[in-house]
Amino acid sequence: MRVVERLRRLAQRYPALVALLAQLLATAMLAAIVLLANAVAGWRFGWLTAGLLQGLMAASIGRWLGLSRWWWWLNLAFVPALLAFGGAPLPSWVFLLAFVLLLLLNWNSFTERVPLYLTGAQGTQLLAEIVAQQPTVLRFVDLGCGPGGPLLALARQFPQGQFVGVETAPLSFLLAWMRSLTQRNCRIRYQSLWRTDLAEFNLVYCFLSPAPMADLWQKACKEMQPGTLLVSNTFGVPDVPADQQLKLNDWRDSSLLLWRIPS
Ligand SMILES: C[S@@+](CC[C@H](N)C(=O)[O-])C[C@H]1O[C@@H](n2cnc3c(N)ncnc32)[C@H](O)[C@@H]1O
Repeated sequence: MRVVERLRRLAQRYPALVALLAQLLATAMLAAIVLLANAVAGWRFGWLTAGLLQGLMAASIGRWLGLSRWWWWLNLAFVPALLAFGGAPLPSWVFLLAFVLLLLLNWNSFTERVPLYLTGAQGTQLLAEIVAQQPTVLRFVDLGCGPGGPLLALARQFPQGQFVGVETAPLSFLLAWMRSLTQRNCRIRYQSLWRTDLAEFNLVYCFLSPAPMADLWQKACKEMQPGTLLVSNTFGVPDVPADQQLKLNDWRDSSLLLWRIPS
């Protein structure tokens, strides 16, 4: 089980690597199933059936190892699509386009070591409970808001609050920005979290990776008002225990970590 835990942590930081592993495992399992079915019952699988079976296994393994939902679809479709279009004269720009789209979503994987994965429904629900307990008018920021799902859900639920998302992955920014156009109390900035002045906000939310947490804590202590709240999904600050930890009861057994900024 330790290996699985490690792979799940790896999936947070390098999802593409874990997706590749899921594909390889599924292919090996498929090979075993095909050989066994043939030897025991004389069954032969068609190419597309085998491809679909491989896709299902790869998607399930990926999910079990902690990849987010959209990777489920990628893993499911990858081999069946290769088989279906293998003989078709697909223009090379299709592959280039797929690559560019992935790159534009995961822009920060390489430089900041923060890939894209999303706060789930339980995380958003728990965040809403935290927001509801804030005594003053809320000014909330999601540092690295991705396509903006949780941010917009909160903005809709708390129309009196002001919600800001900052994001530097171009495609994630564009999606979040378009989704925010009809939400008057929500703004999306194409801005690095390191260039965002946290003094503007009394609740700062982030779901990043272990890499930036120590520096982010320094920044928060320097800029945020004493008594305001920093909330991190999953990732702690080295040597600074959270004031509160709220369990999410999800398959990752993750939690929201809360720190009141000291005076
Ligand atoms: C794990 S995702 C979280 C998305 C969203 N906050 C959520 O919880 O669903 C982290 C996001 O932070 C973004 N990010 C990483 N480094 C950043 C930086 N320096 N400035 C702005 N966004 C950044 C990534 O592009 C990615 O979209």
